[in-house]
Amino acid sequence: MTQSQEWITRADKVIFKNYGRYPIVPAKGQGCRLWDADGTAYLDFLAGVAVNNLGHCHPRVVAALQEQAAQLIHCSNFYHIPKQIELAELLCENSFGDRVFFCNSGAEANEAAIKLVRKFSRDSYGEDHFEIITALASFHGRTIGTISATGQDKVRAGFNPIVPGFKYVPFGDIAALKNAISPNTCAVMLEPVQGEGGINIPPAGYFQEVRKVCDERNLLLILDEVQSGCGRTGKLFAYEYEGMSPDIMTLAKALAGGPPIGAMVATDRVAETFVPGSHGSTFGGNPLMCAAAVATIRTLLEEGVLENCCRMGEYLCSRLEALREKYPFIRGIRGRGLFIGMELDIPGGEIVNQAMGKGLLINCTAGKVLRFVPPLIVTREEIDEAIDILDLILKEQ
Ligand SMILES: Cc1ncc(COP(=O)(O)O)c(C=O)c1O
Repeated sequence: MTQSQEWITRADKVIFKNYGRYPIVPAKGQGCRLWDADGTAYLDFLAGVAVNNLGHCHPRVVAALQEQAAQLIHCSNFYHIPKQIELAELLCENSFGDRVFFCNSGAEANEAAIKLVRKFSRDSYGEDHFEIITALASFHGRTIGTISATGQDKVRAGFNPIVPGFKYVPFGDIAALKNAISPNTCAVMLEPVQGEGGINIPPAGYFQEVRKVCDERNLLLILDEVQSGCGRTGKLFAYEYEGMSPDIMTLAKALAGGPPIGAMVATDRVAETFVPGSHGSTFGGNPLMCAAAVATIRTLLEEGVLENCCRMGEYLCSRLEALREKYPFIRGIRGRGLFIGMELDIPGGEIVNQAMGKGLLINCTAGKVLRFVPPLIVTREEIDEAIDILDLILKEQ
């Protein structure tokens, strides 16, 4: 039995079976490479599902964690936390935001946003302003509140009754959004690019229209940048492509370059709604996670990572387009920066398995969309290597 097989056998006995896990046991990572427990190398174009934007074990993130771990790992939010303050300053200086609330995951950031818009609207307009419009094919997390916000039946299946007060409309359809607004509506919550829903890019001008409608109807706009944020699209935040800004933005995944963290960034007007006792989190804004996040954001901004993301995103798209011309079952390529989907006419699951067998890690979302979210430090050579593997596999379909 190999080391990996041994771990998988042990996992089988003690770990919940809520993930369809691949038979890989990652043991070490560096840049865009992962090695399993038996030393087999993989080219990682999934990057922990858009978490390892600086690649595995980026030296600045490792150093920040080591330094902070030796100083102070945790302290309560009853006190002021310098690394948290530094991180909030960085996020506010580089976005529309004025204030930040920290938590530990994307779902928690979205829970905070849902609570914030409900309280803001009740305080401002009265008890019956609580409804939030979200998009079909969206994904906002796995808590009971965020599955209620998520516009996918499969995510909610088995968990009724869900939290009331959510309505779903097709993503990118401004008329449907306007029609869904009722006297009870308090907010609109959207991903700038839908990730789990199949890398769906909005039509040009959609978000400006959404912003306009929200302003006209006194609705708050939440953008869920949990997957699209922190450089993934080639800008620090994906809303920057849209010529508008939200009232609230949620972040997680890549924010700390690997360690778990979540954040809700908001304008002062909205943030004031939360007063002592409104919301909280034991670990949120923990010094260790914030030290990693400060190092991550600084590296993204100072080391040409966003520029590399744009350049390599274009290059990867062009190489994938060339495959599309070769294989008729590839329906299309879409993406922004290194947030890229390849839509197929056939199910993608088997292609993912075959790629894994040849040393390339990708995944499939929405059944038929292969998702490419490599670290933003990826090189042309690594992209060429991934395309060679993919080409070999697609030839056999
Ligand atoms: C857009 C979006 N929002 C929220 C989440 C949930 O984040 P987490 O798994 O950290 O709770 C995800 C996770 O994939 C996501 O892609």
